[in-house]
Amino acid sequence: MEPPCRGGTSKTGGRLAKLIHAAGHPFLVASRSGTAPEPFKGVKFDWTDSSTFENPFKADPKIDRIYLIAPAGYLDSLPIVQPSIKLALSKGVKRFVLLTATLSEPGGPGLGKLHEYIASLGAEYTVLRPTWFIGAELRHSNGKIPLIEADDIAKAAFDALYAEKSSNADYYLVGPELYTYDEAAALFTEILGRKIAHKHLTEEEELAIYQSFGLSKDYASVLTAGEGLVTKGSEEAFVRTNKTITGTHTLRQFIEANKQIWIKQ
Ligand SMILES: NC(=O)c1ccc[n+]([C@@H]2O[C@H](COP(=O)([O-])OP(=O)(O)OC[C@H]3O[C@@H](n4cnc5c(N)ncnc54)[C@H](OP(=O)(O)O)[C@@H]3O)[C@@H](O)[C@H]2O)c1
Repeated sequence: MEPPCRGGTSKTGGRLAKLIHAAGHPFLVASRSGTAPEPFKGVKFDWTDSSTFENPFKADPKIDRIYLIAPAGYLDSLPIVQPSIKLALSKGVKRFVLLTATLSEPGGPGLGKLHEYIASLGAEYTVLRPTWFIGAELRHSNGKIPLIEADDIAKAAFDALYAEKSSNADYYLVGPELYTYDEAAALFTEILGRKIAHKHLTEEEELAIYQSFGLSKDYASVLTAGEGLVTKGSEEAFVRTNKTITGTHTLRQFIEANKQIWIKQ
């Protein structure tokens, strides 16, 4: 159940744009459309179109830090993103804040090679590895997940971008409470006043749904395997590490704040 982005064009980037704006720093919102909600400034940028790579630096030659959401759906994002990172370094960018995921190990599939590459550059960097977002689809696992609100991810990204000293490390990002999908559905039911059920998918059903979105079977298998790990307690374990940042926004607050969207449906 996904409410609309609140500013900017991505869930986390939109919230981050508001924080940066409030702090009075200049910034650009890069996306394929090149547009951004007022009062933000947008610039056209497409990971799959090298003719757009210079656009942000033409729009603002002083860019020195970048919040990076890699394109989704690739078994290895590095070849897509690497040319832009090299260009950014040549244009004077000093700091990267990369969004990956709890289960995205450095060097592993999906965003792992990109993580490893960013960490190897000698530039300042932070890799933020959130657990499942509040608002993500309810999938096949039965484990508990410390669901995190995009506002908490944006806050961590802001801190990493503007800290006087870069961490040059990666952090797990989790929310303050653990939920199974059934418990999350029960909370929706309580607050919306109508029955919201969690449909338990089989792994095969989940795999087929991911592929119906256009994902390759290999990439869909990586995502489905991640859900299998949740059942074994993978996400719960990220709550208790010495490199975990814990957000403050609860699922209850999120549903309360957005309930008009679902009550109307
Ligand atoms: N959802 C979860 O539960 C979860 C959990 C852990 C980690 N993550 C990670 O979170 C990241 C997604 O973050 P998010 O939810 O904030 O993003 P999002 O809402 O999915 O937005 C994706 C952004 O990427 C832009 N984009 C898409 N394709 C592009 C392209 N070819 N060139 C340039 N820009 C492009 C989109 O802008 P336009 O469409 O306007 O171009 C949009 O701004 C992913 O890396 C995912 O692995 C998600």
